[in-house]
Amino acid sequence: AQSLGTLGLRHGLHVGTAVDMAALNDPADPRYRELAASEFASVTAENVMKWESLEPTRGSYDWAAADELVAFAKRNRQSVRGHVLVWHNQLPGWLTSGVEDGSISTQELRELLRNHITTVVSRYRGKIWQWDVVNEAVSDPWDTPSTLHYKGFWAEHLGPGYIADAFRWARAADPRALLFYNDYNIEAFGSGDPADDKTQFVYDMAKRLRAEGVPIDGVGSQGHLGTQYGNYDTLQVAAALKRFAALGLATAFTEVDVRSRLTDGVQAGDSEEINPRLQASAANFSVLMKACLAVRSCLSYTVWGFTDRHSWVPGWFDDPPEGLATLYDEDYQPKRAFYEIKSDL
Ligand code: XIL
Repeated sequence: AQSLGTLGLRHGLHVGTAVDMAALNDPADPRYRELAASEFASVTAENVMKWESLEPTRGSYDWAAADELVAFAKRNRQSVRGHVLVWHNQLPGWLTSGVEDGSISTQELRELLRNHITTVVSRYRGKIWQWDVVNEAVSDPWDTPSTLHYKGFWAEHLGPGYIADAFRWARAADPRALLFYNDYNIEAFGSGDPADDKTQFVYDMAKRLRAEGVPIDGVGSQGHLGTQYGNYDTLQVAAALKRFAALGLATAFTEVDVRSRLTDGVQAGDSEEINPRLQASAANFSVLMKACLAVRSCLSYTVWGFTDRHSWVPGWFDDPPEGLATLYDEDYQPKRAFYEIKSDL
């Protein structure tokens, strides 16, 4: 049987996965490594390229795990999506506390960010296909104030100008890597609901950055969906991609998973036949795949973990508990979602 990766490449599409390095190196769990190597054409570090992992102590970088993933990808002829250069989460404690207690000034913070981007992008120059340069910079309608705005640590301390700076610094360090803005809740456009607003905000931002000559090459749509929110519409998802494409930007699905509420009667081990939520999960995986295949600018489709055995969902969404968000169950049996996207390819 052909892998998802191989099938995707026939369409010029890289089907990839986020990789959990602890799982990859667990000798008691060999199947994880086998599937990560054989089923996908691209890999992303789930955590080990985040700032807190790379520079836990100020001034001393620990590259071991990130280097290992890049070497793994090379051995398996996989492309690498670099994730992530600028984000408000998983920052090292020394950085956030230094800003908090005033020992790191605004000017120094900007310098630290420039150095970080330059150091990381230079180390992997020529080895990273796409970089997520800026992640989740835009608020959601449920935030305060509800009017969409630039949110989080970097906007608060440096102002929104950090976004353009980050792209320029990244380009200077690796002129060949494709530089992405990455976010969630921008998967669709055209419903007429408030759900369109964030997609529009990011579109306006990308348009302005392009007009100003800022080196942004693409917009990544994370694709963290949930069956409790109903099914996405392929045309609306394709419409969002096409609008970014019309700005001259590449697009990608970067973190796809479709979780279900376990309290709604869904149990691990349930078959799809008896559980409509798992069918809904498969349907949403497929909607994103079909939209991506329909739009030339959509370069890659990356799942955020491929097995329920190693997924961030149960640890993150626990009230009410959620799970069953990936392509394979906890015993590495492919689920309906797997077969569905495979038949799309
Ligand atoms: C998540 C990881 O999967 C978890 O292991 C970690 O504890 C928290 O971060 N959006 C992103 C990803 O851009 O980096 C996040 O990854 C999930 C949400």
